[in-house]
Amino acid sequence: MFLGALKLEFQGRDIVSIEDFSREEINHILDVSSSMEPLSSKGSDMLKGKILATLFFEPSTRTRLSFEAAMLKLGGSNIGLDSEIASIKKGENLADTVRTVENYADAIALRHILEGAAKLAAEFSKVPVINAGTGAEEHPTQAFIDLYTIRKEKGKIDGLKIALMGDLRYGRTVHSLAYALALFNIELYLVSPESLRMRKDVLQTIKTKIPVTEDANLETIMPQIDVLYVTRIQRERFPDAAEYAKLKGAYKIDLKTLHNAKKDMIILHPLPRIDEIEAEVDNTPQARYFQQVGNGVVVRMALLALVLGAVK
Ligand code: NCD
Repeated sequence: MFLGALKLEFQGRDIVSIEDFSREEINHILDVSSSMEPLSSKGSDMLKGKILATLFFEPSTRTRLSFEAAMLKLGGSNIGLDSEIASIKKGENLADTVRTVENYADAIALRHILEGAAKLAAEFSKVPVINAGTGAEEHPTQAFIDLYTIRKEKGKIDGLKIALMGDLRYGRTVHSLAYALALFNIELYLVSPESLRMRKDVLQTIKTKIPVTEDANLETIMPQIDVLYVTRIQRERFPDAAEYAKLKGAYKIDLKTLHNAKKDMIILHPLPRIDEIEAEVDNTPQARYFQQVGNGVVVRMALLALVLGAVK
């Protein structure tokens, strides 16, 4: 379903790419997320009678559970598909799956291994499709959570110096986040091993909008940055296991790396963490990745309420 990107019109809209959202729309989503904070503990019946279908064809912990929790907190319900035993295993294609599920649900959250899968699903679906992560391409709802966390923790987004570190090539969260940050007045630093540099299409788009320092040195930029966003190496997306073995453990944040960090710098990570942030960092004042997980619920409450027309 596609109702066009009418300004501040969210009802019935798909959330396929963060690039479909203006700065004004992003700010509105963050404001609505904020207004969901009290409802997250009190509960609400805003989405009573509404059903979300979660179609996840890749592993997930946070994304799926927080979508489901968000729906329940707003009085709605969830139905899910176990991709291992669904008819997709018999050879049914995604388009037919979507044209089936739209009869049972008011919105679909889709996670898929293939880039373009959410766009395809949205073209076939009569109900809004929310991209919950497609291959190495995009993860727009995670970007809304990341922006919400930055704004909540730092009080603003404009004026910040932000570093994205890790697997910038195969990590989908950094792609959506980079597109979104390019709509704000920020300075971006990219830190990664050579073979995991930010993919070209993303880089070309963001470089026309904000200052980007490619191949930044973490030690050098540490005293200036306000946000350090770390990601894991996306092992499952490597074409070859030997390549992954070479890069495993290539970067790590520990207390030593943080010795010259600003006291009010914040460290974010979409999780799961493997070994790129040592456990000793969890107790530093800078660690904010578990608060970030918590914010996933209110942001997804806001997105569901908006596309299902319960809030404007
Ligand atoms: C991320 C994802 O699935 O892309 N996880 C998440 O949704 N928070 C990050 C990752 O898997 O590394």
